[in-house]
Amino acid sequence: MLKELVLKNRSYRAFDESRPITERDMRELIELARFVPSGMNNQPLRYRIVSTPDELAKMHANTRYAAALSIQLPPEGQKPTGFIVMLRDSDVTSPEGLAQKDCGIAAQTILLAATEMGFGGCMIGSFDPVRLCADLSIGQRYKPLLVLALGTPAEKVVVEDANDQGNVIYYRDAENVHHVPKRKLEDILL
Ligand SMILES: Cc1cc2nc3c(=O)[nH]c(=O)nc-3n(C[C@H](O)[C@H](O)[C@H](O)COP(=O)(O)O)c2cc1C
Repeated sequence: MLKELVLKNRSYRAFDESRPITERDMRELIELARFVPSGMNNQPLRYRIVSTPDELAKMHANTRYAAALSIQLPPEGQKPTGFIVMLRDSDVTSPEGLAQKDCGIAAQTILLAATEMGFGGCMIGSFDPVRLCADLSIGQRYKPLLVLALGTPAEKVVVEDANDQGNVIYYRDAENVHHVPKRKLEDILL
């Protein structure tokens, strides 16, 4: 059921490092992303897989998680075991807005497929793009749009209805379960 997959596909920020996602797994995810819609069918997106220890360490140092929480995430020993960096190829003529939309569509498709494969991840917009390109030896032609942190989830995340005040700030309870309030249907229908 698609609904079950969508509900299971949460943003995970702690991973079981003993069950890593492999480069081959990530290639499979990107192979799927080839087929998603693209504005004007320009297909300006490019993907860079990160799976070696040296590059993983650089990505860990340049990604920020759950700014709304004052705890260290991911916890030590529970880091993502792979990253897919999503970039825009500036040699492909495409309006900036369309490339951003393409990126969202492809990112969600990749995460849904990863969830189906038993993995999970988190979209990361909080990184230094200049540092990322330097760390991964990516030329100026490519502009990083989004990072996908991936691995086997090792934490519990639940969605719940936002309260009547419309509070959508995520939080953790005493058992370290991560709660994500989502606005109710009647609050998002115009
Ligand atoms: C475009 C985008 C950028 C995001 N950037 C970050 C980020 O830098 N760090 C992070 O921990 N989560 C990031 N997230 C994850 C959101 O915090 C998360 O989607 C939100 O809290 C709702 O949780 P859910 O994905 O489980 O529904 C990002 C999500 C999106 C869609």
